[in-house]
Amino acid sequence: MDGMMMAMNQENDVLKSSTGVNELAIPAILQPDIDGIYHITAQQGEIPFFAQQPTQTYGYNGNFLGPVLRFTNGEKITVKITNALAEETTLHWHGLEVAEMADGGPHQVIAPQESKTVSYTVSQQAATLWFHPHPLNKTAEQVFKGLAGLVYIDDDQHNNLPNTYGVDDIPLILQDRNFTDDFQLDYSKLKNDDGTKGQYSLINGTLNPVLHVRPQLTRLRILNGSNARNYTLHLSNRATFYQIATDGGFLNEPVAMQSLKLSPAERAEILIDFSQFNEPVALVNDMMSEILPFTIAGEVTNNKTLPTEPLNNFAITDEERQLPVNKKIELYGMADFVEINGKKFDPERIDETQKIHVTEVWEIYNKPDMMGGMVHPFHIHGTQFKILSRNGETPPANEYGWKDTFAIASDERVKIAVTFEHKGIYMYHCHNLEHEDFGMMAQVKVD
Ligand code: C2O
Ligand code: CU
Repeated sequence: MDGMMMAMNQENDVLKSSTGVNELAIPAILQPDIDGIYHITAQQGEIPFFAQQPTQTYGYNGNFLGPVLRFTNGEKITVKITNALAEETTLHWHGLEVAEMADGGPHQVIAPQESKTVSYTVSQQAATLWFHPHPLNKTAEQVFKGLAGLVYIDDDQHNNLPNTYGVDDIPLILQDRNFTDDFQLDYSKLKNDDGTKGQYSLINGTLNPVLHVRPQLTRLRILNGSNARNYTLHLSNRATFYQIATDGGFLNEPVAMQSLKLSPAERAEILIDFSQFNEPVALVNDMMSEILPFTIAGEVTNNKTLPTEPLNNFAITDEERQLPVNKKIELYGMADFVEINGKKFDPERIDETQKIHVTEVWEIYNKPDMMGGMVHPFHIHGTQFKILSRNGETPPANEYGWKDTFAIASDERVKIAVTFEHKGIYMYHCHNLEHEDFGMMAQVKVD
């Protein structure tokens, strides 16, 4: 890695604040066709991010990003995925517990102009999940150009929470981009080997967004959909907000916090009481970048209050705490020298095996390098797991819930309890997408 590239990444560390001139886009909710089939097409598009010239993009069923798919637990889903791009792609359901054939990892390629139909029965609790492409060595580029969308799993037990889509229940897909001098997302020119970052914050694909909210309890479902940026979010007035859900489900109770960290691919649902503010407020990243100003006005549409009943019955049992470590996973390296347990990804190699329905403890260690090392967001396909400990200590309260991705700092050791409910070959990898594409990925065979 040369000095210039290092400099380039640092220059992109700070996000520009939003000028607030554009209303935040709210993704459409995808309806199935008359036969109950959902249709998703990966396609090319363009967006006028800048007045001078439109930007060429990718999107699902549109120009950039995709619709929200809303499923309920127990529902049988059929999705027909069409690839209208000029290159191979796959569609991975991040956080869904599905069989290998439906998972959409790098083995389930859809050729250009081809379609693939996947079916699965949803069998997991209410959560905010997402989908994105996962083709071998090309994931970072395709996500960067705009391919990603949300999946909600709904239940009918949480109706006391704000749940009017786009009014008091709002998705926020956080991403960052840079553009070439001719306003393009030309990945080969903009990429950084240690994770591509940009100074421009996009939320739901909107540059310079503003969000109009009402003076009431409001739920934000936040996805870090960036290639490589770790966000640290808070409110500009330092007010307290409450996290109510992790990647894979609700926390047992709201966790009061002033600052929320999200590494790439992680999700958090938070509640903010906008009735308490008399001054302008914004969502801020890293203490300085006002990435989403809020205007608070209009009629109150809900009479929701902070929940007092338990939201979930998540638990880590004594038995799980006493399980021996079954798998040791060592993350190491930077830029294109990244590896897991000393190896780069090989699609023909099975790295680990595990029995279906059997809980194992995986110990993930982030081994420092001569530069000190960096945070890696670690993700496993096809499962929601429990974080047992971080360096032997109890993890923070907002990690006492189902997870499919977590940040691991340099020299940190994290134990997780992992169970698979479906058979197949599943990826586990760093969700810094450039690291993933450079081979910081391996596979576990479940049978
Ligand atoms: Cu979000 Cu292997 O992916
Ligand atoms: Cu990494």
